[in-house]
Amino acid sequence: MVPLNQWIKIKAPATVANMVCGFDILGFAVNNPYDEMEMRLVNRAAGQASITIINIDDYNLPTDPEKNVAGAALLAMIEEYTANSIIEKSFADDATQTGLVDFSTIGFEVKINKLIKPGSGVGSSAASSAGAVVGANYLLGNPFTKDDLVRFAMNGEKVASGVKHADNIAPCIHGGVTLVRSIFPLEVIALPSPTLFVTIVHPQIEVRTADARSILKQNVQLKDAIKQWGNIAGLVAGLMKGDYDLIGRSLEDVIIEPVRSILIPGFDDLKKACKAAGALGGGISGSGPSIFFLSKEKETAIAVEKEMKKLYEGLELAHHTYVTTINQTGVEIEA
Ligand code: HSE
Repeated sequence: MVPLNQWIKIKAPATVANMVCGFDILGFAVNNPYDEMEMRLVNRAAGQASITIINIDDYNLPTDPEKNVAGAALLAMIEEYTANSIIEKSFADDATQTGLVDFSTIGFEVKINKLIKPGSGVGSSAASSAGAVVGANYLLGNPFTKDDLVRFAMNGEKVASGVKHADNIAPCIHGGVTLVRSIFPLEVIALPSPTLFVTIVHPQIEVRTADARSILKQNVQLKDAIKQWGNIAGLVAGLMKGDYDLIGRSLEDVIIEPVRSILIPGFDDLKKACKAAGALGGGISGSGPSIFFLSKEKETAIAVEKEMKKLYEGLELAHHTYVTTINQTGVEIEA
């Protein structure tokens, strides 16, 4: 366990959820952008909240732990830590550690510097909640498993979008590409991937995840479902075999993208231009408005970035671009 008052630094990566065809089940972490956080355990007076959130960016996000995604994730963690036999479980092999943290007198202080803009579609809320629980677990001496941490962090996603989904949280915590086979009970599978370059454009409009979910159709035609299953299976096989062409062919979404793409200016033209520049494929990142494309070579990823800039400059829409790679480590701690 880390002594009281000692700060740790946390780096929580952005993530691309859905990976085009795998709505709510596939996602991957990227090396840029990422959020920076600091956390420590502190003594707290009676009546004072067990979590203090300090925003050190300009986004003015809520600091009430129940309304803050990091706070909600930590509350779920504290509840389970306090309620069950986690104390025995975590320190069974270290008899000197007894008693552990009593959350009636001790709390977490969390400083959050969001470098991933909220509402950008690259897992901004997931980075805060995943970063917080990985940091808290480290402070407590790592009593929880990664799957436990994903479960806690999903409470943050519920605050952000109204629904518990793990397709950003899982890659943020595990790194790499992940498949969420099931949420209840949670089953996350880490997938291998060949070297891939990722180009992301974030047009500076806001698409709220809750809105982007509310416009989706509740029923799916069987013929579309069959295509989607084929693509998901093809993408997973392509990643495992390192088959770039199969990955590219499988990056197709016949269910969600046709509905959501109307929220993103220039989407269809951008897609054509990025493919023509040599990208394997891509689409909406999470619920948008960011769009991502995967490439086999760095030069192609840079050519794709040029096309993105050209299109949004033409539309006179402010935007940010990133050329990055898949982050294989997930949330990192610097003690
Ligand atoms: N799978 C979620 C969605 C991700 O597409 O709504 C949100 O970031």
